[in-house]
Amino acid sequence: MSQLKNDRFLRALLREPVDVTPVWMMRQAGRYLPEYRASRERAGNFMGLCGNPEMACEVTLQPLERYPLDAAILFSDILTIPDAMGLGLYFEVGEGPKFKKPVRTEADINALQVIDPAQDLPYVTDAVKLIRRELNGRVPLIGFSGSPWTLATYMIEGGSSRDFRRAKQMLYNQPELMHQLLNTLAESVIVYLNAQIEAGAQAVQIFDTWGGALSHSAYQEFSLNYLDKIVKGLIREREGRRVPVILFTKGGGQWLEAMADTGADALGLDWTTDIGAARARVGSQVALQGNMDPTILYAKPDRIRAEVGAILQSYGSGPGHIFNLGHGITPEVDPEHAGAFIRAVHDLSQQYHA
Ligand code: CP3
Repeated sequence: MSQLKNDRFLRALLREPVDVTPVWMMRQAGRYLPEYRASRERAGNFMGLCGNPEMACEVTLQPLERYPLDAAILFSDILTIPDAMGLGLYFEVGEGPKFKKPVRTEADINALQVIDPAQDLPYVTDAVKLIRRELNGRVPLIGFSGSPWTLATYMIEGGSSRDFRRAKQMLYNQPELMHQLLNTLAESVIVYLNAQIEAGAQAVQIFDTWGGALSHSAYQEFSLNYLDKIVKGLIREREGRRVPVILFTKGGGQWLEAMADTGADALGLDWTTDIGAARARVGSQVALQGNMDPTILYAKPDRIRAEVGAILQSYGSGPGHIFNLGHGITPEVDPEHAGAFIRAVHDLSQQYHA
């Protein structure tokens, strides 16, 4: 395996000194890029991209050709796990993900088995290997998974949901059944992420996109518990380096202490939390990733630059910050604005790393 030419992302995750604050964007390979839309057209649809390692590699690298990003993220989706469990994932244009066979009953849940990544998702580990080869040490590669709770919401609802009515009904009426589902998912996430790490992923992020929809106590019991189990089940060292784990609970700003106690290396923040205040709370334990409101990318480049400056100032001097958006970049963003954002992070952060 080649030496990393740019390791500031991995160093920042371990709170080690860096020259400038590293930056990447959630959904950095996505519809805001015309070259992504062209690749998707050629693949036929989104799952055609995910399922073909050459195409997944191609789109993973697209944002890195345009911008001086400090990390690549595997192009795939969190819903590959339920798809591998036999739920039949498909995407309806303009409607987001859907499952042919949602999970609704005790019998449905009893029938689910922990996935075998080598058997069920070889296209994911093949993509990881190919991307590592093509990156050739330029920047580290991030692997990822959804959290058990977030995956469960899609599996039970059969797609995206506004209020998670069915998932919450199960959580409150049949908590043991919900725990059974979450356990199967947690075991699956562990083997899935470990397979990505063994294939070459150098850091992993767990997307708990809907953790923030839970009550204070339900979050601990139905999401954090399983994040904790996953963190403790992951391979943490590979190729002579630590493989950092990033936990991102959208809407989780009030639970940072409990999240840090899982032993994760870093926490992702959405834009509703002040990053300086978060650092004061948990910064001696974990690195922090985030947290610019992704809709600021609709504003003028000068305004974007000012916002980057304000977030850097709030975090303050010293290592432990990975710049990112507070959630994924949206399809309507002008690629020039994304470029202005990334340049601003590198320019304006030098002064904080004397
Ligand atoms: O960050 C990256 O660049 C890596 C790729 C990535 C995708 N999805 C590509 C994608 C990652 C990390 C994800 C994670 C994901 N997928 C999450 C968690 C992160 C988050 O955004 O909160 C969730 C909830 C999903 C499920 C999912 N996949 C949804 C709800 C959608 C539809 C979104 C929409 O706006 O229509 C997807 C599709 C998807 N995943 C796209 C991309 C680039 C768009 C598909 C397309 O090209 O049409």
